Amino acid sequence: MVRTIVDDRLWVLESTDVAYACGVSDSGDLLHSYFGAPLAFERDYPPALSFPISVPFSGVAENSPEEYPSWSGAMYTEPCLRVSFPDGTRDVRTRYVGSQLSSGGNDSGTSEGDNDTLEIRLEDGDRGIRVGVFYHLHPESRVIERWAKITNAGGMPVRLDQVMSASLALPESYSYRISYLSGRWGAETQLHRRMLGTDVTVLESRRGHTSHEFNPWCALDPGGKATEESGEVYAVGLAHSGNWKIVVQQTPAGRTRLVAGIHDFDFNWELPPGDSFETPRLLLAFSGEGFGGTSRAFHRHIRKTVLPEQHRDELRPVLYNSWEATTFNVSEDHQIRLAKRAAELGAELFVVDDGWFGKRNDDTAGLGDWYVNPEKFPRGLGPVISAVREMGLRFGLWVEPEMVNPDSELYRKHPEWIYHFAGRAPTLMRNQAILNLGRPDVQEFVISFMDRLLAENRIDFIKWDMNRTITEPAGLDLPAERQREVWVRHVQGLYRAVEEIRRKHPDVIFEDCSGGGGRVDPGILRLFDQVWVSDNTDAYDRLFIQEGYSQVYPANTMVSWVTSTGGPLGQRQVPLEYRFHSSMTGVLGIGDDILSWSDEECRKAASLIAEYKEIRTVVQRGEQYRILSPAGGAVAAGTTAVAYVSPDREEAVLFAYRNGPHFRNPMPVIRVPGLAAEALYTVKGAEPATLSGDALRRVGIRLNLIRDYDSLIVRFRRAQHAG
Ligand code: GLA
Repeated sequence: MVRTIVDDRLWVLESTDVAYACGVSDSGDLLHSYFGAPLAFERDYPPALSFPISVPFSGVAENSPEEYPSWSGAMYTEPCLRVSFPDGTRDVRTRYVGSQLSSGGNDSGTSEGDNDTLEIRLEDGDRGIRVGVFYHLHPESRVIERWAKITNAGGMPVRLDQVMSASLALPESYSYRISYLSGRWGAETQLHRRMLGTDVTVLESRRGHTSHEFNPWCALDPGGKATEESGEVYAVGLAHSGNWKIVVQQTPAGRTRLVAGIHDFDFNWELPPGDSFETPRLLLAFSGEGFGGTSRAFHRHIRKTVLPEQHRDELRPVLYNSWEATTFNVSEDHQIRLAKRAAELGAELFVVDDGWFGKRNDDTAGLGDWYVNPEKFPRGLGPVISAVREMGLRFGLWVEPEMVNPDSELYRKHPEWIYHFAGRAPTLMRNQAILNLGRPDVQEFVISFMDRLLAENRIDFIKWDMNRTITEPAGLDLPAERQREVWVRHVQGLYRAVEEIRRKHPDVIFEDCSGGGGRVDPGILRLFDQVWVSDNTDAYDRLFIQEGYSQVYPANTMVSWVTSTGGPLGQRQVPLEYRFHSSMTGVLGIGDDILSWSDEECRKAASLIAEYKEIRTVVQRGEQYRILSPAGGAVAAGTTAVAYVSPDREEAVLFAYRNGPHFRNPMPVIRVPGLAAEALYTVKGAEPATLSGDALRRVGIRLNLIRDYDSLIVRFRRAQHAG
């Protein structure tokens, strides 16, 4: 149950295992009080107090645990808000003016009830700046959303120079360890952990999309003591798909503070009188049960609240994608032959990737010309779609709507539509320029060609790609001093276009892609049902990418293809079972040239796909437990293990992979958490046994993993109550 207690000066948002409190100090500042497990009594929540001592050369402002600090006075740590006024003043002093409970503050999906959103209102009366600081605790996931809304209530336009989503003061007197995700193309979401020092840690993207380099998530655990299933962890995830920044630092008085939101690099936003700016949501999770606890909270939240409602509760289909089999060489006949084989193997959705449109024979031309290529599909897409449907498959298509090749009809017609600085050559990446989605006419172009494509063809699925980053961020139909709004306007334009297309075609499933996992965040997942996580389909590398991805994002969004060994990214030789087992931990796909598979490979693949269909409800909807990390190496005899437990704990699936024998280490014993302690489970896929959830968690089972790249799926089903 959520209790939102509104007192004069202290607010507590409380649910079964999370509580968050903040309050107003005597001086009218909104200060942090508490975040963690619920306390026994209401009176236990500490009052909001300014930092009691001031350190010479450092004022109260930067040491107080402000919930939404603005830049003013002796404030040298990261602020949430910086504003410039027409007279040159850059100083905002907000004070508490009131609070209110309202409903419908949740634009990320469902409304869970009335009066579920707390708004605390701050104001700089002199300067007419109003700040709404918002809190929404989701009772089912126990995730707290925080965001802010800035309103110009004065008579003159003002400029926002920085406007973050929230600031979070971590409990005092600890040093913290940070966990974060970094990487690059083909190696996204690699998990890193290190103790924080007295330096400033910045995770960020300045690339115009969420980025392959960092994902907008981090977790902090006091003293670096948490494990996967124990210890306190505070985690945040930012719902924004453009430039973002998370700053973690100690105040001079030694308290750790986190600020997150839209990046202030090359950013500003003009706010005319009466206008407001609302920030993206910051998701906060706390768990007393380790990193796994916060991940499961995020998974529940994204599955139940964030993902588009239309397909939220549907199981994701097994898909086949032709990209690695054909690259740009698509043709009617070949696609139909691939689809026939895919259907025989058990796939449920057939996706034609890049190359079907315009003069698209390689990556130098065609983007922007969204008509069917007449040489490759002389009769249009109709015959392929009909053939695919007759085979019982759904049909999907790749698009990259935000892009244009200079060698295209669209560019020749509208050279002014790309981001560029006047009179200077735009930077091309993958031979393409990026369309200015900040412009309403460009948004209309995208909405209307997508609408036409989906209206004229029976398409069930769209893979929406974005294969470059933003450069030369200018070209808005706005004065020169407002060109820095591009970064945010692109994201807003994208969100608007996808929302509109989805509204017109609610049955279509949308997959998010940006050269693999370049645009994954809780913001994009409001509009996309699933994600192509990486172009790297090496089954072993994927274990690392998927471990990182799963810190935040649930398995029913994580698309993973089985491809060939020795493929485009120099993959290692890995058995087919291992490749399947690696991909079966998310949304299973096949991305290989399946026409070249031997009968034996086809037979094995068909049986693995059938097995996936048996377990996918547990995988896609279950609670995930990361048991052994792929980075664990010799510690766990080179074994990786991850399990999914159905929410009713009736069944579970364990995936285990051994990368190779190491120092003659014995076969690993895997302890499986998450099952009902006093229930008995039959074990299938390992030494047959009937064991209690308690024994599985505390004793575990030995797995017959011996050779290089051995892997196993073990299934547990509740037999009876032990009594
Ligand atoms: C990106 C995607 C790939 C594929 C290609 C097509 O790289 O990540 O899966 O769609 O584009 O050009």
